[in-house]
Amino acid sequence: MSEEKLRQDITEICHLVYRKGFVAATDGNISVRLPDGNVMCTPTRCNKGFVKPSDLVVIDMKGNKVRGERKPSSEMAMHLLIYEMRPEIKSVVHAHPAGATAFAAAGIPLNKALISEVVLAVGCIPLAQYGTPGTPELTDALEPLVPQYDAILMKNHGVVTYGADLASAYMKMETVEHFARIALVSRLL
Ligand code: 13P
Repeated sequence: MSEEKLRQDITEICHLVYRKGFVAATDGNISVRLPDGNVMCTPTRCNKGFVKPSDLVVIDMKGNKVRGERKPSSEMAMHLLIYEMRPEIKSVVHAHPAGATAFAAAGIPLNKALISEVVLAVGCIPLAQYGTPGTPELTDALEPLVPQYDAILMKNHGVVTYGADLASAYMKMETVEHFARIALVSRLL
C-alpha cells in the first residue's frame, strides 16, 4: 500500500475516532508501520477530528523524525515497543474512550469472558499498572503484557489496541469500548 494511501487512511480513522467520542481535545494517537520499516504517526497535540494527511509525521524505529513538519506524538515509545515486540503488528491505536477508560481509572481489568465475540476478537483485556504517559514507566508497565494481548487498559490513562492493519487495530478499540459498556451494565444488573 502506498504511503499516500496510508496517510489518507490514518486521517480517516482519526476522524472516526473523534466522531465516536473515543478522544477529547488532543487525546490519542495512531500509527502505521510503513513497508520500509519506518512508522507514520499522528503529531503531538493535534485534535483528531481536524487532522489532515499533511500533518502526519514519519519516524524511524529509534523515534527519530524522518519526514514531516510537525513533532511526532509524545507516545511513540509505546507504539515502538509494540512494533519491536510484535513483528506481525502493522498498526497501533491509542485512545481514551469513556467506558473503557473508566474501568482503567477504577483499576478493573476487562478480563471476564462475558461475550463470545469479544473473546474471539480481542481475548481478555488486562490492566497495566500506572505509568505517566510518554515516560519509560509506561513502557515498562506494558512490556510484560504486549506479547500476549492485543488490547490493554492503562491504569488512570486509557486504552491501546493493535493489529495486523489499521482497520483491525481500530476495530479492537471499538470492541473494547462496546464491551466496557456491556460489562458495566451487566455489573449493575
Ligand atoms: P500526543 O498528543 O503527544 O499524541 O498525546 C496524546 C495522548 O493521548 C497522551 O496520552
